Amino acid sequence: MTSSEHLALHGPTLTLRIPTLADAPALFGLASDPEVTRWFSWGPYTDETQARAYLERLPGQRRRGEQLDLVQQHREHGIIGITGLSEFSMRDRRALVGTWFGREFWGSGANTESKALICHLGFDLLGLERITSVANVENARSRRALEKAGFVHEGVLRGWHRHGDRQLDVAIVSILRPEWEAMTTRHLDYTVEGEPPAAFVVER
Ligand SMILES: CC(C)(COP(=O)(O)OP(=O)(O)OC[C@H]1O[C@@H](n2cnc3c(N)ncnc32)[C@H](O)[C@@H]1OP(=O)(O)O)[C@@H](O)C(=O)NCCC(=O)NCCS
Repeated sequence: MTSSEHLALHGPTLTLRIPTLADAPALFGLASDPEVTRWFSWGPYTDETQARAYLERLPGQRRRGEQLDLVQQHREHGIIGITGLSEFSMRDRRALVGTWFGREFWGSGANTESKALICHLGFDLLGLERITSVANVENARSRRALEKAGFVHEGVLRGWHRHGDRQLDVAIVSILRPEWEAMTTRHLDYTVEGEPPAAFVVER
């Protein structure tokens, strides 16, 4: 790992950091639960090699500025899931956040802290002006969780995601920079180790 590949954001109970291949067993354990991957185009994992293949794709995606996924590590419980930014438009200063946790960490409060850390990364460190998220219109838990984290509902994108042979509708939500700057979670105690990969930082 080069120095530009070292990035860890520490919040009160969670650390978001660049994943390594050593994370494969934990991610396999968490995402082999069909409830966790129910709303995704992938999964559930049936073999650890699938988690490894995912982790092996990430360095290239970071180099190309495509996807900045981070492992979510809890102070007491270790690895509890993945969150990350993708679908960057550097010209428009925006990206999309997607998140999953192992089933036992749903409702634990980790999602609120995770979203705050991602906003800190996106707005304060990368210089984005907008963070979008999308959730299947029927994924009521995710939609409510996004609303609780301060995301504003904008509408429904029809036939947006392809899962198998179906085109699915998603609700689209977002946070804009002025909204983030007014949020109380902006003032959590964050520390940052390393630097975000250069491909994701807005040029000023
Ligand atoms: C989506 C996810 C990240 C949210 O994290 P979480 O810790 O479960 O979220 P929270 O518990 O903080 O918030 C969920 C809210 O939805 C509510 N909820 C749960 N089921 C619901 C339903 N069927 N209808 C409406 N609200 C529902 C919960 O009561 C809670 O609201 P409350 O705190 O006001 O009671 C997590 O559930 C997860 O990893 N899910 C699997 C992967 C996934 O779907 N990712 C999102 C893809 S868009």
